[in-house]
Amino acid sequence: MTIDRTAFESIYAGQPRWEIGRPQKAFINVADQITGSILDSGCGTGENAFFFASRGNKVTGIDFLAEPITIAKRKATERSLTVTFLVMDALTLKNWTERFDNVIDSGLFHVFSDDDRRRYVEGLAKILKPNGRFFFLCFSDEEPGTQGPRRVSRKEIEVAFAEGWAIESIEPSQYEVRPDPKDISSSDGGPKAWFVVVRRV
Ligand SMILES: C[S@@+](CC[C@H](N)C(=O)[O-])C[C@H]1O[C@@H](n2cnc3c(N)ncnc32)[C@H](O)[C@@H]1O
Repeated sequence: MTIDRTAFESIYAGQPRWEIGRPQKAFINVADQITGSILDSGCGTGENAFFFASRGNKVTGIDFLAEPITIAKRKATERSLTVTFLVMDALTLKNWTERFDNVIDSGLFHVFSDDDRRRYVEGLAKILKPNGRFFFLCFSDEEPGTQGPRRVSRKEIEVAFAEGWAIESIEPSQYEVRPDPKDISSSDGGPKAWFVVVRRV
């Protein structure tokens, strides 16, 4: 299932499952590999962005919804952390003049249709500096069922980054989520995911 703006707005009106109040373990595990500036694409209310800002990285977070960005800005003030938060559609990255050493994405890549995925990857290629890396966590086709976001296969990832990128790793991982509500069930330990590292060449 692809999830559009209206669907995200109504999820934020409740309690999004991804809002765990801390960074995702998958990003903590690779933190030592991430130096320099970072764009957190689809940052939500900013927990991953704050984690890297607290380590000294220069971080920018974008989300296409005003609501999570407002919350992220409030958290930044409360925690005395510096992150630039912007309301911006990740499908417009290609038109941006900013450049980054790294992009992180926890839960955005799997949202896009095939056409939008191509646009997104083109935009990432534009904003990453040479040899810059894109680290992302997306739903895996190994997660049973159809509830939640679109599943992504290893093959699809290889195809998406076949030209202009070196694939450094595609590792099985899991999303940390809030406890399953009554009408949803996911794998023990959280929905199965891929943690992917690709480098712009
Ligand atoms: C699954 S949530 C993950 C949020 C955050 N990365 C986290 O891990 O807590 C995906 C986020 O992507 C945002 N999003 C969806 N489509 C987007 C787009 N085209 N451009 C920017 N943000 C988008 C949603 O508003 C939502 O906050």
